[in-house]
Amino acid sequence: MRLADFALERYFARWEFSVQHILCASDLQGMPMAEVLAMADEETQSLWDRLTLGYTESTGHPLLRQEIATLYDGMASDDILVFAGAEEAIFCLANVALEAGDHAIVTWPGYQSLYEVARGAGADVTLHELREDAGWAIDLDLLRRQVTPATRLIVINAPHNPTGMLPDRATYDGLVDLAADAGAHLVVDEVYRFLEFDEGDRLPAGADALERGVSIGVMSKSFAMAGLRIGWLATRDRDLLARCAAFKDYTTICSSAPSEILALIGLRARDVLLARSRGIVTTNLERLDALFDEWADRFTWVRPRAGSVGFPRLTVPGVTIDDWSAGLVAAEGVLLLPGSQFGFGGNHFRLGFGRTDLPVALDRLEAYAARTLR
Ligand SMILES: Cc1ncc(COP(=O)(O)O)c(C=O)c1O
Repeated sequence: MRLADFALERYFARWEFSVQHILCASDLQGMPMAEVLAMADEETQSLWDRLTLGYTESTGHPLLRQEIATLYDGMASDDILVFAGAEEAIFCLANVALEAGDHAIVTWPGYQSLYEVARGAGADVTLHELREDAGWAIDLDLLRRQVTPATRLIVINAPHNPTGMLPDRATYDGLVDLAADAGAHLVVDEVYRFLEFDEGDRLPAGADALERGVSIGVMSKSFAMAGLRIGWLATRDRDLLARCAAFKDYTTICSSAPSEILALIGLRARDVLLARSRGIVTTNLERLDALFDEWADRFTWVRPRAGSVGFPRLTVPGVTIDDWSAGLVAAEGVLLLPGSQFGFGGNHFRLGFGRTDLPVALDRLEAYAARTLR
């Protein structure tokens, strides 16, 4: 399999650990280990204290799978398969669900591996383009026209990276019906689920919504534990899950033993983690709203409905976001992610608002904007 470079990851490899402020990160501010361990209950504290560093169960620690299952309405432990991050889950899923001659539809702009691995597996991929002037909404009529008899996967990411889009309930229900009619798996990358700004907007998980629904989850975003590298698939399609498990024997075989226990501690304390994460993003959003209000004649801002990222656009004639963000990082040590890293034109850039240094980073961005965009 030959895969094109993952543009965003190559960009982060260049910058992530050398700039002062990553104003485009999608993860939530991590917690110190001591705070994580302080959340352990009696059982998880004992699991941690007695932990030996052998191989672990390749499907995932039974207690962890059981805990993950409770994030859904109708999932049992056996409907869950644990991976090294959502990234490995995506890699295994596309490899077992698709082959040459198959067709997949994937929302775009988006997380590159969602369509790149599908291509690498030999599938024909149609990108379902989201448009700013439509509020980044999924277009059901277009999607219906994109389905072919060979369509095996319809892949959406909601809440969405990079736009912060969350479909309304009617659109989501339409999508579920459409996938069921097409006989395709509906894969919903839900790594930002539980970060809806209005909790009433939370959608049913893909795995719960239909028999062939697949949910992708991870500890990295809403649960603020990216360094664990623990993710999962949830689906009632046990045959698909078994094939993913067999494929995983060629990637990581099993998860990191300490990470599984820490993930279990985090998920059992999910109310604390999610309240913390929501607190960070909603406070930061207020700052962003004020900034974009002030600079409305220089930037567009489709306010995200969920998650930790948004996709504004620089509208100053003659200034490209690639050049402007290169100047910003050089002058102020503040990193943005130009839309070109998603292969998406139009002067957009990804802003992340899951980190606690956002106020300082925004002050610097504003100072730079005042010098260069007025
Ligand atoms: C939509 C989406 N899916 C999957 C992932 C992968 O998550 P992880 O790197 O934690 O495996 C990301 C990470 O940015 C993402 O934004």
